[in-house]
Amino acid sequence: MSLRENISPSDPIVILTGAGISKESGLQTFRDPDGIWAKHKIEDVATPQAFARDPDAVLGFYNVRRAQMGDAEVQPNAAHQALGALEGFWPGGVLLVTQNIDDLHARGGSRNLIHMHGELAKTRCNECGDLVGGIGNIETAMTCAQCGATGTMRPHVVWFGEMPLEMDRIGAALGSCGLFVSIGTSGNVYPAAGFVQEARTHGAYTVELNLEESLGASLFQEGRYGPATEIVPTFVDELQALVQS
Ligand code: APR
Repeated sequence: MSLRENISPSDPIVILTGAGISKESGLQTFRDPDGIWAKHKIEDVATPQAFARDPDAVLGFYNVRRAQMGDAEVQPNAAHQALGALEGFWPGGVLLVTQNIDDLHARGGSRNLIHMHGELAKTRCNECGDLVGGIGNIETAMTCAQCGATGTMRPHVVWFGEMPLEMDRIGAALGSCGLFVSIGTSGNVYPAAGFVQEARTHGAYTVELNLEESLGASLFQEGRYGPATEIVPTFVDELQALVQS
């Protein structure tokens, strides 16, 4: 099966991305041998219970991630930029759903973008939900400017046990897309890992782009394997050729 035989330029596209797309920009993945979860326990730093038990440890973990994202060397790579360009030329429309909390897709030019696991560059009050931008450190001593509570400011990220964001909009897009592409995600975390089946059930052509076969690789009709900065631009070039033909 090939892309050309299965989609047309009027088909809407949904793209799901994970940590693998930002790896070549200098940000660590989670489950690779050198990944974040090899050095930290999820239950110590990425759950509501951890924040209640030891807020300093949780905030410290995310403050480090914020500082890394703000590093001048961390820039959108060729894969982020190719997806930004795709949105500009694809007639059927492109929705980019990312599990990543970094800001590299927006900086790579993507605008129709859902951060289903939240955004590192935003701070939220756990009490009133007020959202504030900026990547400076979050401290337990901070007071919410909206409701006045102290010790409630947290990163605007979705922790394990919390509901991912904008699931209704994502579900609707999966139900009506002609092409679903999963890039740089290991397929370990639901609901994102289930998107391929949802899209396929509704008749979409499904493609995996990853360094290696993910857990759900057999669910995709096509798989292309290699570093994102190589395989994503090539894939987007093929889509552009479809538009031009
Ligand atoms: N190019 C393409 N893929 C890559 C590259 C690369 N250069 N480097 C690594 N990968 C692949 C890995 O092979 C792996 O399959 O990216 C995937 C990264 O998987 P994970 O580390 O599990 O990251 P992700 O799937 O995004 O994790 C999902 O888990 O901990 C939570 O909330 C966190 O959003 C995250 C979610």
